[in-house]
Amino acid sequence: METLVDHGKCRAIGLSDIALDQLAPLYESARIKPAVVQVEAHPYLPETELLDFCKEKGIVFLAFAPLGHGARPGPLEDPAVLSVAARVAKTPAQVLLAWAIQRGTAVLTTPKTAARAQESFNISALPQDALDEISRIQTRQRLNQVVKTGIPGFIARVIGS
Ligand SMILES: NC(=O)c1ccc[n+]([C@@H]2O[C@H](COP(=O)([O-])OP(=O)(O)OC[C@H]3O[C@@H](n4cnc5c(N)ncnc54)[C@H](OP(=O)(O)O)[C@@H]3O)[C@@H](O)[C@H]2O)c1
Repeated sequence: METLVDHGKCRAIGLSDIALDQLAPLYESARIKPAVVQVEAHPYLPETELLDFCKEKGIVFLAFAPLGHGARPGPLEDPAVLSVAARVAKTPAQVLLAWAIQRGTAVLTTPKTAARAQESFNISALPQDALDEISRIQTRQRLNQVVKTGIPGFIARVIGS
């Protein structure tokens, strides 16, 4: 990948589905440091240590599945997220996106309709107490096992009850 940059085939190197214990040594040994890492991240998988490392090293942390892949139950239906959404008069999706951006991540979400895309852009900053409330969520759930298995694919959505 460094050779690709050397030859002008690409301008920067990005990594995906990487854990901190893999990224740290790779970062140290790389001649051309990674510009971005793309990993699953949402309140149920905050990846805080990885985010801190990325901030320290100037690497963009790109959160995929910031809405928890739309899983229900999942972050979109978490009581803390619902409570903040009601308080700030935004939708749970808008709250999750605002939380992700305010903690310093870029987001990779997949709205399926124009209305949802519009909703995703129409976000505004959450107050600190709301950010803290979401950051205190204790539930932990990885929805995409690609980091562990090398095989991409989300766990099946829970539909209905
Ligand atoms: N690096 C990797 O290994 C990896 C793995 C997986 C994905 N990705 C990337 O990450 C991207 C995002 O993943 P994702 O699609 O799971 O992200 P996500 O934004 O967490 O989940 C998207 C789902 O949330 C629902 N949704 C979207 N907007 C909503 C809203 N306003 N209110 C309620 N529900 C809403 C939609 O479900 P419905 O419309 O279906 O109801 C949509 O399918 C993918 O497109 C892919 O490019 C990367």
